[in-house]
This record gives sequence, structure tokens and C-alpha cells, in this order.
Amino acid sequence: MEKIIIEGGSRLEGTVSVSGAKNAALPILASALLAEGWNTYHNVPDLRDIRTIKRLLTEVGAEVETEEDVVKIDTGALKSHEAPYDLVKTMRASILVLGPMLARLGRARVSLPGGCAIGARPVNLHLKGLQQLGADISLDHGYIEAQARSLKGADIYFDLVTVTGTENLMMAAVLADGVTTLSNAAREPEIVALAETLNQMGARITGAGTPVITIAGVDALKPTSITIIPDRIEAVTFMVAAGVTHGNIKILGCEPDHVTAAINKARQAGITVAAETDGLRVVGGETISSVDVKTLPYPGFPTDLQAQFMVLMCLATGLSVISETIFENRFIHVSELQRMGADIKISGNAAVIQGGKPLTGAPVMATDLRASASLILAGLAAEGTTEVSRVYHIDRGYEAIERKLSQLGAHIRRVRE
Ligand code: EPZ
Repeated sequence: MEKIIIEGGSRLEGTVSVSGAKNAALPILASALLAEGWNTYHNVPDLRDIRTIKRLLTEVGAEVETEEDVVKIDTGALKSHEAPYDLVKTMRASILVLGPMLARLGRARVSLPGGCAIGARPVNLHLKGLQQLGADISLDHGYIEAQARSLKGADIYFDLVTVTGTENLMMAAVLADGVTTLSNAAREPEIVALAETLNQMGARITGAGTPVITIAGVDALKPTSITIIPDRIEAVTFMVAAGVTHGNIKILGCEPDHVTAAINKARQAGITVAAETDGLRVVGGETISSVDVKTLPYPGFPTDLQAQFMVLMCLATGLSVISETIFENRFIHVSELQRMGADIKISGNAAVIQGGKPLTGAPVMATDLRASASLILAGLAAEGTTEVSRVYHIDRGYEAIERKLSQLGAHIRRVRE
């Protein structure tokens, strides 16, 4: 096991580049299942979760080649329709092979993803949508068994906005007979990126990025070549890093339109954010103002930034309330931040943060991807040494985070426990 050790107190200065978006790359790599021939994906981040989905695709018979940030995938010779438990249990997003595999092969056997630290993470809306497209779905010894001689277009309404649910159903519908509409669909930039990829492969999707997506089924798709969009969650994580260290950094590759809500809240908190030619200039204010935040589906404030923003509020001058409306258990980082001196009280789905208390370094434990990012941010701001253990969580979604932060002047290193 490895841990990351941070000596707090450095102001971050310099330039940092954002990697490709994990949550865009995962569904796009899964979409290779929909067409024979070589797909080429550029700007793919080197993350644990990306390695997991490449392993999963290889398991079912895909050929996968990786050279730096370029990944090539050919699923012309699929030999299995099963996504095994030992892979799915390490990454819930493996569920994203269900829709494309069912569309391509007419059957799929995918281990039911369990919950995770932040919540039960059910996939009932994925399965309900597939049944509406005509699939027979059954559960067998912890596996989802899906069969469909042919899928037929349907009008699907999501009771809850679901990102991977929207992505799974979009990929299942592209080869269906007739037209499918997805209402109350997720609107994230990653949904738009997937739709653009599928349209380049020959699909006929309109409305991605709006609450209603229409997919006119086609007979077949062809492989394509695309570049993965920048990771908006990583970008704002660095923005918060500038805020908590009163630093001055330039974030290259960030798409400002993808992070409007976060920029708005950062500015309210006293962080200066200015668009420059190739990225964002972010300058932390001398004082940090308390602002309330409520996580919502895109374009609202992203739940994946809740833990990071909480660290900023710990250092703010007043009292703030952060409400988590997406996941039922996404305050696990709070107890670790309290060990660093944060004054946070949880009441239902709201965390009340009394700012102004200095953070002090401590040994802390990462529990999930974004919580581990918040512990690193707290370590950057804390007086003294912070040791974050179980950093495999952070490696799921941040590429070489200690190298990128070191380049900005942070005293941070990774050691083997
Ligand atoms: C995606 O997860 C992201 N993962 C998550 O990022 C992100 O936090 C989440 O969307 C919300 O934005 C990927 O894109 C790979 P949901 P997903 O389905 O699709 C409920 C990270 O840190 N729900 O949008 O699994 C669900 O319980 C990760 O990068 C059902 O009830 O999330 C939750 O309360 C963490 N039934 C809400 O909907 C379903 O069938 C939103 O979940 C599906 C979802």
C-alpha cells in the first residue's frame, strides 16, 4: 500500500495541465463494443479505472493497444458476453458495457455492481430502460442476465437523473429498430461527448446536453477516432488547491463552459478566476468567504466537487452549509477533516461548516475517490504534516496528482507504506 505525505503551507504557483476526463473516457471506450474495426482514442488519462475497463474489454475478446495517451480498440472478434464479478466489483462503471454489449450481441451477462462508500448505487433505472427497449432482464447469482433478439425504440423516462443510466441506454438504443427518446436525461459534458462519438460512428442522436435525447436507430456503426474532453473535476480540484493555498496558478486545457457552477461558487468565495487564451488563471484570495453549496445534476454544482469545496469552506471566515442531494453517504471525508481540526456538523444531507479554524496536519485515510482529493487539499493548507493512506482511491481518478502538485510548489510525495 502507498501513502501520500504533504507538508502544508506552500502557496501554489505555476502552470498545470488537465488530463482527459475519466467519466468521458469510460463510456466512450465501452462504445467500442458497438462496431467492428479499430477505434482510436486520444487524450485518454492513465488511471486505475481506465486500466480496469481496458482489462474488461480484453476479457470479452477486444484487442486493446495503448501508447501513452492513445488507446486503440478493436472489438471485431468478441469471444464472451460476460463482465466478471472480480472486475465489476473494482469499478461500478463496468455496468457501461451492458448497453453496448446487448445492442451488439443480443445478450450480456454483467455482474450486478455492488454499492460503494458513497451509496447503494442501484442500477434499477438502467435495467428498466433496457426492458422498455425489449430486453429480457433477470438476476442470476449476482449477475444481470440480459437477452434481446432485437431491441425496439421506446420512450424512456428516468425517475432520477442518472449519468451512466443515460449513457447505457443511449448506447443500447443506437442499433435498435425505430426511435428512442430519453426524458429527464443527464446533461453532463460527458454525455455530449459520448453522443458526439456515437454520431461520428454513424449514430443519429440529437438533444444530448438537454433533458430530452432522441436516438434514431441505425443498422450498423463504424469505428472512429476522437479526443477525450478535459477532466472538469480535476480542473476544479486544482482551482480549489489555489484557493486553499492563496496561490496563483494557470490551469491548461480546462473548458470554462463545463465548470460554470463551480467557477461561480469559487468567485463568491473570493477566488479570482479569469479565462486566458489556453486555460484559466486562478488566484486565491487573501481571505476566503463562506458560501452555501447544494449539489445538483448538471449544470448544477457537481457532487464530485462537494468534498473538495468543503475544504475551502473549512478555511473560510464564516459559517457555510453544504447540502448533498445526489448520494446518501457522501460525507465520509468529514470525520477525517475533523481530525485535522475542521469544525463540521452533519445534519441529514447537510454539513454545517464553521470556518476560520486552522487545519493541522494528521494521519488520515482515504475512503473514496473524491474524499481522497479533499484530504490532499486539506494537507496543502494544514500546518504540519499530513499522511493520506489508501491512496489507491485517488489513483482511480487523478493522473499523477503528486507530480502535478509538486510542479506547482507543493511539498508532497508518495511513499510505500
Ligand atoms: C456518475 O455515476 C459518475 N461516474 C459519478 O462520478 C458521479 O458522482 C455521478 O455520475 C453523479 O454525477 C461515472 O460517470 C463513471 P448516477 P453514476 O446514476 O452514473 C441514483 C466519480 O467520482 N440512481 O448519476 O453511477 C443513484 O443512487 C464518480 O468520478 C438510481 O437510483 O451516478 C444516485 O443517487 C463518483 N438508480 C443518483 O441516481 C439507477 O439506476 C445519481 O446517480 C441509477 C442511479
